[in-house]
Amino acid sequence: MPETNPKFFVKRMARKVAEPASALSGDEQIDSPRKQASERRRASTAKAAQSSKAVFGDLVEVLHPDRTRAELILGANSTATLVGVADEFRRGDEIRRHGLQVRSKLLFCGPPGCGKSLCAEVVAAELKMPLIVARLDAIIASHLGETASNLRKVFDAAQARPVVLFFDEFDALARARSDSSEHSEIKRVVNSLLMMIDRFAGRSLLIAATNIEQSIDRAIWRRFDEVVLFEKPSLPQIRRLLRLKTRNFTPDFDIARYAESFAGMSFAQIERTCLSAIRAAILMHKKVIGREQFETALNHEKRRATIESSVLA
Ligand SMILES: Nc1ncnc2c1ncn2[C@@H]1O[C@H](COP(=O)(O)OP(=O)(O)O)[C@@H](O)[C@H]1O
Ligand SMILES: [Mg+2]
Repeated sequence: MPETNPKFFVKRMARKVAEPASALSGDEQIDSPRKQASERRRASTAKAAQSSKAVFGDLVEVLHPDRTRAELILGANSTATLVGVADEFRRGDEIRRHGLQVRSKLLFCGPPGCGKSLCAEVVAAELKMPLIVARLDAIIASHLGETASNLRKVFDAAQARPVVLFFDEFDALARARSDSSEHSEIKRVVNSLLMMIDRFAGRSLLIAATNIEQSIDRAIWRRFDEVVLFEKPSLPQIRRLLRLKTRNFTPDFDIARYAESFAGMSFAQIERTCLSAIRAAILMHKKVIGREQFETALNHEKRRATIESSVLA
């Protein structure tokens, strides 16, 4: 069995349906139209989750992300590709009418913490489709023959309704067939995966993400309509991220001046630094981040990065 370390992103379940603030106090006998609508939404989300469970079993996790494109900082080329794909997707009928296929298979590449999972969430939210996250720990079975049949189930179910099907850590499945350390069964899995990707059609999107793109089989690589690169942030992107992530606890100093101290870090590391500084501010009953708290958080993150790089080296 191939070694996998699937890292599934935080469950951001169904758009939280806020309880409507009622003008009535005490026990409410009369339901307001807003409350009724919210109940209906809650019931339909629960029903959708139940039916997804029936269709996909435990092989996937069904999410209804609510993250917006304003949260995602991306380079111009990657943005253009994604906007193009989303436009095409929304107006797919016009393209199909001319006998052409809509681009629907995307490969996300790049180092950890640079927005691959976030982007899959944003795409699903923008296109108003559920995000079906393949659970590799459940799909990859000890009998590899079963792995192919699990994959088949997931692909079939994902094409029967419009969804975004997401394979994180895709390299665990798609590792090169030439990798001699692998059992020959894995080659069979890769072969069936090739066929499933080839035949993937309909009104769903397929997104696969990997940090180790070199280990992806070339034949699989070619089958994706687009390869989108997620890179570590540039200095202007670091400045934007620092401002974005501290917007509710505006620092009492010019945070953008610290951009260079974050050079080489991922978006996730920078975000984590901001969150630590915010937590410190909260504990000090402050509504702004002080320079000292921010520098402490930055030094802490740098220490952590040094430990990580020495452990992972
Ligand atoms: N490009 C980005 N723009 C804005 N925030 C980002 C970006 N990349 C990562 N983040 C932040 O870091 C978190 C973790 O990133 P994630 O999408 O899981 O990275 P990956 O999947 O590439 O490992 C995200 O939820 C988001 O809050
Ligand atoms: Mg990820």
